[in-house]
Amino acid sequence: MTIVFISDDAQALACGADAVAAAFEKAGCTVERVSSWGMFWLEPLVEIGGLGYGPVRVEDVEGILTRHAELVSASTPHPSSSATIEAWTLERQSPTVKQVQGDDLCVGSLEHHPFIARQQRHSFARAGKTRPLSLVDYTATGGWTGLDRARSMAPADVVAEVTASGLRGRGGAGFPAGIKWKTVLEAKGTTKYIVCNADEGDSATFADRMMMEGDPFHLLEGMAIAAHAVGAGEGYVYVRSEYPHAIAKLNAAIALAAEKLAPFRVEVRVGAGAYVCGEETSLLNSIEGKRAEVRAKPPLPALEGLFGCPTVVNNVLTLAAIPHIMAEGGASRYAELGMGRSKGTMPIQLAGNIKHGGLFETAFGITLNELIHDIGGGTASGRPVKAVQVGGPLGAYIHPDQFDLPFDYEAYSVADALIGHGGITVFDDSADMGAMARFAFEFCAAESCGKCTPCRIGSTRGVELIDRILGSGKTAPDSVEALPQMHNARKAGRSRDEEFQLLEDLCETMQFGSLCALGGFTPYPVRSALKHWPEDFGQAGSAQ
Ligand SMILES: Cc1cc2nc3c(=O)[nH]c(=O)nc-3n(C[C@H](O)[C@H](O)[C@H](O)COP(=O)(O)O)c2cc1C
Ligand code: SF4
Repeated sequence: MTIVFISDDAQALACGADAVAAAFEKAGCTVERVSSWGMFWLEPLVEIGGLGYGPVRVEDVEGILTRHAELVSASTPHPSSSATIEAWTLERQSPTVKQVQGDDLCVGSLEHHPFIARQQRHSFARAGKTRPLSLVDYTATGGWTGLDRARSMAPADVVAEVTASGLRGRGGAGFPAGIKWKTVLEAKGTTKYIVCNADEGDSATFADRMMMEGDPFHLLEGMAIAAHAVGAGEGYVYVRSEYPHAIAKLNAAIALAAEKLAPFRVEVRVGAGAYVCGEETSLLNSIEGKRAEVRAKPPLPALEGLFGCPTVVNNVLTLAAIPHIMAEGGASRYAELGMGRSKGTMPIQLAGNIKHGGLFETAFGITLNELIHDIGGGTASGRPVKAVQVGGPLGAYIHPDQFDLPFDYEAYSVADALIGHGGITVFDDSADMGAMARFAFEFCAAESCGKCTPCRIGSTRGVELIDRILGSGKTAPDSVEALPQMHNARKAGRSRDEEFQLLEDLCETMQFGSLCALGGFTPYPVRSALKHWPEDFGQAGSAQ
């Protein structure tokens, strides 16, 4: 019996994985649905006996089975041929391949594929290898080791280990997880909560989704460790509504693991569908059933969070780093990875106009040159890279001249850029950076919670201002409301230089006057676009 492994991750499903799985079953194979390897350009990716084939269409199925029989020598033990699928573990053997030709769909051993072999997968160690809802697979691959160890320790010692690991929040702000946990542990009150932020609204990001769909027990284990560390009895995972597969997987995983997680209880809450719902205080309001409006800080959520109780709010990837840290000892292995104060690994997400898009988990310090060119293979269009945006819609646009910048919170901050949630959107030379700057304001205007003036009003004034700077040719036909503004500007007698000065004043007001980072960080994409591509704003020359 040939056993075929196909992902049931949303990306694979979107590329037709269900139809391919059905075709293999029709051909007499046993199909096991596993998590995704994160090699999205190969989806639907099929693994047979350790060999990968992709992207596979239904009509390729027969040919692949014939080809596979040719490629694998008869003597090669099939990793899953023992019929004991229940005992299937990470220790699969590398198949003996006679010859892989360039023109067929076989990409060789997935474990040894350069995209995978170059990674340092810790949080995503199971990606592509286990069945997401199999407790047997999870336990057989080291699952619950971190939780068992943490529960054998005093809460303060767990917090100390997380602090020693140097783990920083992966949701965007990079705040040290151990310090946040210590604040909650030491906060007064008997009711405390763990809230997992799975709103994942940044452009180019999908790592949270992959974790929830592919390894949900791993996230729950991280939350249970956090609960033990701070003395919380309940937790919520706030998942964006656009992730129905993740929601279903998490709910199923919570039911399956309830006994192991006890006395800690977890519930899923479905997001309210706005980018700002991912801001932690707005998210807490949303869970409480209120309008997702940002709360002023202080008080910090760590002291007065959900329902006024001390609350840990952590991103999926932050919590998913925890089981590994606790299993191995935070001060040792994890803290040795990375550079400077950016410790451990980051699941980087390559997206946009890139040949090899997907998930690349590696230690901090890697450069954009390596990520975009060596690993990502350059643009999908084959045209030169013009810009990349790192850190979602509020991140700076980075010019190729800066591509030796190491992936490190501090290095990015010095360059007026953000790491954010590790999403990278690649643009080729057809991108219009003036239009992208306009989009930054437009996005902010659409997503603003409306609580503070610099963001609520400033973003709309920003769109109008960029329209004037770019000239009527760049003004969208539906932006008729911009026309009176153009008229006003002319009446006010502002010169072009004065319009640019006004843009800088607006950016400064939004940066320093906004209540949260939505308004506060919108100037990053605007300023960086103007600085590196002034010609796209009708300015002479490049400021490089
Ligand atoms: C507008 C806005 C949107 C945000 N969206 C997210 C999000 O989708 N996911 C996330 O984890 N953090 C998001 N954040 C950051 C959170 O406010 C918060 O810093 C994070 O959940 C803390 O977890 P961490 O310390 O593990 O990163 C957002 C912040 C802002 C200002
Ligand atoms: S910056 Fe924007 S999103 Fe943030 S509180 Fe102010 S209005 Fe709301």
